[in-house]
Amino acid sequence: MYTLIDGKKVASEIKLEIAREVQGLKSSGHKVPHLAAILVGNDGSSETYVANKVKDCHEVGFKSTLLRYDNTISEAFLLARIKELNEDKDVDGFIVQLPLPSHISEYRVIESIDPAKDADGFHPVNIGRMMIGLPGYLPATPFGIVELIKRYNIQTSGKSCVVIGRSNIVGRPVSILLSQKGMDATVTLVHSRTKNIKEIVQASDIIIAALGSPGFVTEEMVKAGAVVIDVGTTRIESNVTKSGFRLAGDVDFERVAPKCAYITPVPGGVGPMTRVSLLRNTLMAVLSNPEVPNQ
Ligand code: GUN
Repeated sequence: MYTLIDGKKVASEIKLEIAREVQGLKSSGHKVPHLAAILVGNDGSSETYVANKVKDCHEVGFKSTLLRYDNTISEAFLLARIKELNEDKDVDGFIVQLPLPSHISEYRVIESIDPAKDADGFHPVNIGRMMIGLPGYLPATPFGIVELIKRYNIQTSGKSCVVIGRSNIVGRPVSILLSQKGMDATVTLVHSRTKNIKEIVQASDIIIAALGSPGFVTEEMVKAGAVVIDVGTTRIESNVTKSGFRLAGDVDFERVAPKCAYITPVPGGVGPMTRVSLLRNTLMAVLSNPEVPNQ
């Protein structure tokens, strides 16, 4: 029998912890943490993510600001708005929801964010700090995955771990975090050019699927007793849900779950933990910033 890793439940527990910290800050006369989000255009998934992030902020007592712009804005316009947020003393952390329209460079946008306000942990300074094990803001999804693993007391030391997918925001950073001292997993990162993905996955104690291909990880790829973390969130049309969409993971959950020791569902696994990581990064920004004026 497998254990379902309930990200929604863990995220709720962490949100309560954060809400208590916010109360503590308030009662000591500190300002309320403030997370801002920039959303460009009206991509359906991005709209949902950002709406959920705003909801999370309200739940824990953060102030939140959503800045929405049309698809047609120029890169210079967006960079100017980011500069304003960098300079706004009231804003502790902010994110720019990705993807951006193709005429805007994601790299230039990410590099223009003040690393001290980089709630997503995407800035090269924060990525660099993570690489060498210095404290900083960790990329939200990898941070959430590591926290889930810790809270379920899943052993990683000496375990073989495969990460499927090499994106800058999930696959590559989570491979680094899991290989660091303290986590101590032996990590293999596989991607679209890897020749023997199936064999590598079959031999792994821990499987992190982050490639965005529904049902990619099948029953015969998973060894008995494996830990499976599904990061896939592909939007698929559905006539069952109210929204007309459902989220599909990268793992064939129904068939794979019975073979596992632990597995995350989609939705309700990694997703809620990503959102909570943003809150944690914002709280860290508040606590480590002595410049923050009292309200
Ligand atoms: N798009 C998909 N995931 C993310 C995320 O974690 N942060 C941002 N900013 N955009 C995303």
